[in-house]
Amino acid sequence: MKSLHLFLVSLAACILPGAVSSWNSFPSSMIAFSAGFEEPSPPLLNAEYQANFIQHKWNQNLSHITTGFIQNSPSQNFVRVDEVYDGNLASSFFDYTNTTKEGLVDNVLTTFDAKSKESTIWRDYVNSNFPLFSENLLVEYGAVFGGLVERQFNEGFVAAWNIMYQGVIPVTVYVNEANVTVGYDYFSPGLRTRVITAYFNVKT
Ligand SMILES: *[C@@H]1O[C@H](CO)[C@@H](O)[C@H](O)[C@H]1NC(C)=O
Ligand SMILES: *[C@@H]1O[C@H](CO)[C@@H](O)[C@H](O)[C@H]1NC(C)=O
Ligand SMILES: *[C@@H]1O[C@H](CO)[C@@H](O)[C@H](O)[C@H]1NC(C)=O
Repeated sequence: MKSLHLFLVSLAACILPGAVSSWNSFPSSMIAFSAGFEEPSPPLLNAEYQANFIQHKWNQNLSHITTGFIQNSPSQNFVRVDEVYDGNLASSFFDYTNTTKEGLVDNVLTTFDAKSKESTIWRDYVNSNFPLFSENLLVEYGAVFGGLVERQFNEGFVAAWNIMYQGVIPVTVYVNEANVTVGYDYFSPGLRTRVITAYFNVKT
């Protein structure tokens, strides 16, 4: 009886109009190959957020996978990343009020090495894997709409937006219907580097 009930409930979920919509509530103007398509203008982002994240960076010399918690605060000009990888704990603070003209950012990195009981504090300018997302990032860069795509950890579809970050790095930013960033990917041809980042449990 119970399984029949479950079957009927799930059947109803499939049939009820609006119960399952593969495009979420994105308008047909944002759906590729739709007659009503018109390239949308880039949205303003809900850019004050914290989220769990998972990131994989690879190039011809390394493969680095890390997970953790991220805080993105354009109002206070910082990104804070607490992460775990290879038995290490690390906390990175990126101060975007202190950057170089090449786009490097002040980074204070505190690590707890697996092999030592001491923490290490290191500080210098770095090329960050964690850009500060500002509210008008996509507008400022004149982001190109990349279509609606499915992502791991996200229900349904999200919008992809393409920019040339700092004019040199092609970045795809994934944004949900509430204009909240849910991840980003980029690549850099130098060392054939690719970085993919997915957010979940995002709170704005
Ligand atoms: C998201 O941004 C679009 C484009 O700017 C806007 O039309 C829409 O109302 C915004 N949605 C929310 C939930 O803020
Ligand atoms: C990466 O690996 C290549 C080939 O093994 C080597 O030539 C290059 O110097 C390495 N680059 C870095 C930054 O380690
Ligand atoms: C700016 O960042 C550099 C590099 O991390 C650091 O040495 C310097 O002290 C910082 N300056 C200020 C004013 O915080």
